[in-house]
Amino acid sequence: MSDIQQAVREKYGAIATSVKESSATAGCCGPAACGCGDPITSNLYSDAEKSGLPADAVAASLGCGNPTALISLEPGETVLDLGSGGGIDVLLSARRVGPTGKAYGLDMTDEMLALARDNQRKAGATNVEFLKGTIEAIPLPDNSVDVIISNCVINLSSDKDAVLREAFRVLRPGGRFAVSDVVVRGDVPADVRRSMELWVGCIAGALEEKDYAAKLRAAGFSDVEVEPWRVYKIDDARSFLTESGLDVDRIAPQVQDRFASAFIRGRKPEAKSCCGPECCA
Ligand SMILES: C[S@@+](CC[C@H](N)C(=O)[O-])C[C@H]1O[C@@H](n2cnc3c(N)ncnc32)[C@H](O)[C@@H]1O
Repeated sequence: MSDIQQAVREKYGAIATSVKESSATAGCCGPAACGCGDPITSNLYSDAEKSGLPADAVAASLGCGNPTALISLEPGETVLDLGSGGGIDVLLSARRVGPTGKAYGLDMTDEMLALARDNQRKAGATNVEFLKGTIEAIPLPDNSVDVIISNCVINLSSDKDAVLREAFRVLRPGGRFAVSDVVVRGDVPADVRRSMELWVGCIAGALEEKDYAAKLRAAGFSDVEVEPWRVYKIDDARSFLTESGLDVDRIAPQVQDRFASAFIRGRKPEAKSCCGPECCA
């Protein structure tokens, strides 16, 4: 396991534990555990989506978007959530694919898997399975998944090419990739970029939006789109950046509108059908 993976695992293990402890004591999400009022994780899900979900699944929501809102899911489909955390997006997907479908969550952190399985049990979801493993080496066969979702996880990986290659491998031909992630827009000086990444929690670094699209195409995806939908303002990060010792007013032009949560989409091309002598030999 890399140092980055170890750091990520420790951070999210502690968050999962704090969600469990705060629900046991106060019935409310703990300060480090949810997006109470923070500009990245707040207001991502509608009341209708949250109703019927276990409170701990909502409290443990640590995403930066709502990937399930990105995509039409059909009954009977198989969905895989990369870095499923407390399981909110898996449980929402499971409702939509119904009893003939399946929703997998994949996570490497034992405490998060325990929390997610607890939430699955409370939700009574039988078409759900949480798998232990890394998103850089997905423990599923080739061509076995219709839709890949993920919510603010790929930015945590130090090997994003491997993640995208693996996503492509497990998707069926025609399968969809619909992910929420933090992206950088244009050039940002390295020190400012690092401070903003720490504010967002992107331990391994966010991709520049054009680089994200290029990596998806390099992995084989077609119909690639990167669509920023929540663009961060300097005041969102002001107190964090000030505490980091940065002169916020001086760097404001380099931060304003340069960091965003984005919807990222792609498709695995359909397998070529037999079309003539040169491909049917
Ligand atoms: C920011 S949280 C997001 C959780 C969930 N997607 C959500 O929206 O609430 C990141 C999650 O991804 C998991 N994770 C991070 N890097 C991973 C990796 N390389 N392989 C598997 N899981 C990973 C962490 O354990 C954590 O549960």
